[in-house]
Amino acid sequence: MISTKISKMIYGGDYNPEQYDRDTMYEDIRMFKKAKIDFVRVNIFSWATSQKDEVSYDFTWLDEVIETLYGNGIQVGIGTGTAAHPAWMAKKYPDILRTEFDGKKRKFGGRHNSCPNSLTYRKYASLFVEKLVDRYKNHPAVLLWNISNEWGGACYCENCEKEFRVWLKKRYQSLDNVNRAWNTKFWGHTFYDWDEIVTPNLLSEHFGERQTMFQGISLDYARFNSDSMLECHKMEYKLIKKEIPETIVTTNIMGAYKPLDYQKWAPYMDVIAWDNYPSMDTPVSYTAMMHDLMRGLKNGEPFMLMEQTPSQQNWQPYNSLKRPGVMRLWSYQAVAHGSDTVLFFQMRRSRGACEKFHGAVIEHVGHENTRVFREVAELGEELVLLKDRLLDSRVNAKAAIVFDWDNWWGVEYSSGPSIALRYVDEVHKYYKALFDMNIQVDIVSVEADLTQYEVVIAPVLYMVKPGYAKKIEGFVENGGTFLTTFFSGIVDESDLVILGGYPGELRNVLGIWSEEVDALAPEHSNKIVIEKEYGNLKGTYTCNLLFDLIHSEGADVIARYGEDFYQGRPVVTKNKFGKGQAWYIASSPDQPFLADLINQIAEEKGIKNKIPANKHGIEITKRTKGDKTFIFVLNHNNDSLSVELPGIRGVNLLTQSEVVEAIELASFDVAIIEQG
Ligand code: GLA
Ligand code: ZN
Repeated sequence: MISTKISKMIYGGDYNPEQYDRDTMYEDIRMFKKAKIDFVRVNIFSWATSQKDEVSYDFTWLDEVIETLYGNGIQVGIGTGTAAHPAWMAKKYPDILRTEFDGKKRKFGGRHNSCPNSLTYRKYASLFVEKLVDRYKNHPAVLLWNISNEWGGACYCENCEKEFRVWLKKRYQSLDNVNRAWNTKFWGHTFYDWDEIVTPNLLSEHFGERQTMFQGISLDYARFNSDSMLECHKMEYKLIKKEIPETIVTTNIMGAYKPLDYQKWAPYMDVIAWDNYPSMDTPVSYTAMMHDLMRGLKNGEPFMLMEQTPSQQNWQPYNSLKRPGVMRLWSYQAVAHGSDTVLFFQMRRSRGACEKFHGAVIEHVGHENTRVFREVAELGEELVLLKDRLLDSRVNAKAAIVFDWDNWWGVEYSSGPSIALRYVDEVHKYYKALFDMNIQVDIVSVEADLTQYEVVIAPVLYMVKPGYAKKIEGFVENGGTFLTTFFSGIVDESDLVILGGYPGELRNVLGIWSEEVDALAPEHSNKIVIEKEYGNLKGTYTCNLLFDLIHSEGADVIARYGEDFYQGRPVVTKNKFGKGQAWYIASSPDQPFLADLINQIAEEKGIKNKIPANKHGIEITKRTKGDKTFIFVLNHNNDSLSVELPGIRGVNLLTQSEVVEAIELASFDVAIIEQG
């Protein structure tokens, strides 16, 4: 946790003074102080700067940077620098280079470019990290260690192929087990020797990123690739912790980033730190969901907003500026969802290469008389005034959404029923329905304890891992409300279908059997016709994508299809099970249906927010700490609005004014109301 080491929300971001001369650094520091910047992340991409050949290390430049920053009251997060290997290393040891999905061996270039299974890469990375640790372990400027940078991508080289076989031996013990798990009798794929197994890519099983002829091997390769990078991360993590056990070690991650199973990574991050880059048209509910996903990785512990742009990105198709006030608004949105920091990429724009047009606190003009700098400095002032008030405060959600990387991979490798099915989009639909009612959500893994929740929603839970159905049964038996959707309960951990009828092991708790699954192009839809007005659910809605043809096996039918040959068959069911209920939504509904459904469930379970629903882009969240409650009210509109806040009285910490059951918020404005 970061809160134990800081006395206010740290403020600053990625700083690359090695790209400029020293005088520029002094000038930067002068401006940092003006903006109340007290933390920067250094050495992120400086491996080649500090190591010019195999044996020569020179950290004097970094000594000077760290000393100067520290002398000016600025702490550092020290990057281990291993996210981009030096060119000399690639030339001398080509085994550190990755092989692409299409089988092409890469040359030197780019970043995040090392083969995670190259022993050469691991050797030089650990030597470099050891030197850094040795040099800076006692330096009071160092607040935390940042391993690498945005671990990611994948490698398909021969090294990885060999290691994949080792990984498989560990997972399956015998080739018989592998053959069984991958169902290799299909298309005559039986393996008789471990060396017959090759990496699944465009040269072998794939004909596209998502399209594989053998889901089992592709799924295992995704796991293996995530694990391989995690091994590199763990190697560095252990090197640092061995020498400085009390320090904070993290790496900056990327929200719903498909290639890495962050739920498996989280134990090797002392604090979750993530990089938030919404574009202008990213729904605010999607950004909120990403924050909650990140908070969920460590059981609700506060996280770090490690990067965001103060103004614009460079890598999106259209790099819109954040409108005045939006940088502040989105910074507080992160805090509203559990961040204890506000940090940027980057402090000063580069002069050359692909990020020269990426926004920065200090723009190319080089002085502080810019809109961006003014906004950054104003926020800096506010964070000083907030002191440590919000640090380590927690979100107490009563609703949870289940998110599982293996399931994500499984769903999207599946050949059929629909290429339009996107796991994260389906999760977001349900999240949005809760978000629009200002009901806070924890996003949890399948390992999570569910007892604290009233409602658990598992959209498209295609893969049900061993014991999970029993866990859900226990949750519902004890009074919980569980909801799942079409294309759930289909396969086991190896992507082998659970025989005996869908939704497999969930059939019991749901009280239904899904006999067939129809898929239509997304522009075609069917109707959800409510059988008999059920609370907030009434009339007719639409649905698309997939359509399960289900039979009730004891569940109450709430709605039926309105069209096609399965008109009249159930589409929404609710099963009483023990003291609780289990809902099944057999197709992908429109947002009005989800709004009414979630409203209904929230009412039944008593988890509605007393503050009226978020109809007008007003987001409301709560963090608590001891006997204090902090209500965040965020106006995502470009208009001022008055917001009713029934039952809420307190002080808006950002203006020091009293709030009594209502507040007027200017466009993109924020209030943090302290109660108690
Ligand atoms: C990522 C990286 C940074 C930078 C930004 C640009 O988050 O970690 O190094 O490239 O993107 O948006
Ligand atoms: Zn490799």
